Amino acid sequence: VQVKVLTAIGARPQFVKTAILSEELRKLGVEEILVHSGQHYDDMMSDVFFRELGIPAADINFGVGSGSHGAQTGEMLAKFEETILDRKPDCVLVHGDTNSTLAAALAAAKLEVPVVHNEAGLRSYNRSMPEEHNRVLTDHCSDTLFCPTQVAVENLAKEGITDGVHQIGDVMFDVSQRFQNVAEKQSHALQALGMSRGEYVLVTLHRPYNVDDPERMASLLEAMGQVDIPMAFPVHPRTRANMEQFGIEFPRNVHGIDPLGYLDFMQLEANARMIITDSGGVQKEAYFVGVPCVTVRPETEWVETVNAGWNRLLWDNLDELGTTLSERWWPEQQPELYGDGNASAKIAELLVRKY
Ligand code: UD1
Ligand code: UDP
Repeated sequence: VQVKVLTAIGARPQFVKTAILSEELRKLGVEEILVHSGQHYDDMMSDVFFRELGIPAADINFGVGSGSHGAQTGEMLAKFEETILDRKPDCVLVHGDTNSTLAAALAAAKLEVPVVHNEAGLRSYNRSMPEEHNRVLTDHCSDTLFCPTQVAVENLAKEGITDGVHQIGDVMFDVSQRFQNVAEKQSHALQALGMSRGEYVLVTLHRPYNVDDPERMASLLEAMGQVDIPMAFPVHPRTRANMEQFGIEFPRNVHGIDPLGYLDFMQLEANARMIITDSGGVQKEAYFVGVPCVTVRPETEWVETVNAGWNRLLWDNLDELGTTLSERWWPEQQPELYGDGNASAKIAELLVRKY
């Protein structure tokens, strides 16, 4: 019998995470019902990824849109429940740590449909992040947990979760491997920005604790403005809206642009001298392309990039940004941290065997 998997997606990083996995599932004859919550909806936050990465069109889009945590998660919860009852999948596959992840997982768990969590076991141990609640709650109602790293496996064990746990590598690494050459050939982002390899810093910021607080955001941009290096900053819509509301402007060396598609963004990552970010996915991608990363957060769940010496945390010490961007502080070597590029295929095979 054919296995039926309902995959829940909704936010930008989840489109990237499903790119190769959806393909692997379909290769094995799995019937995948791709359900988009509508959490992200701008063309450059959603559709562009489907076009560029060849992701099949979503079967359903709830069109939930933006809202407060409770309203957004609640609306998705009701809609995922309805869809699960209607489509009767053998399992529900969720990615990462967004409100879409939690809503789909909770709806499935209460209906006794097995939950499969990809990117399980990640922890920042900072409960002021909405994502930390989403991760913990999702892991605790999951039947199968796919961990990118051994650290993630150990985090789960500390919370008593050992059954159904598999370390398979990182699905974003698979995607990065597949599309790196495509990006190098097809993207003209560097040219469009008038920037050259190794001469600029790439920036992304969207964590509420950095961008919802006017003082914090102003001090981040001020610190960036004091460094005499050109910066390319594709601005997340949350950040853009806040900058406008707070009246914060880009310093002269910082080129604020609209969010980019995956291929353009990847070209900017691969050619950057350094990356400044508070994104989870971008910290990993910096490592994949061998570019040192400065993470403007008090901690990270991707601890192995820090331990390998390729990622530095900067929080209160923003005055160190200048030296961090100009000194060479990372090692020559890059240990293999995120698997062999076949995480998606491993997930697909396991799901077919198990469900
Ligand atoms: C969400 C996730 C976060 C993830 C990020 C990836 C939660 C709690 N947060 O954060 O974990 O890292 O996505 O990007 O699930 N907006 C638009 N157009 C869009 C989408 C958003 O204008 O297509 C604006 C709206 O003003 C909205 C704001 O961005 O209120 C925030 O969007 P939301 O999806 O609530 O959270 P993110 O900050 O994107
Ligand atoms: N990304 C993109 N265009 C951009 C910024 C990010 O394609 O302008 C991609 C990036 O390559 C990565 C993903 O979006 O694959 C990361 O998403 P985001 O930073 O929004 O969320 P997080 O990973 O922090 O949850």
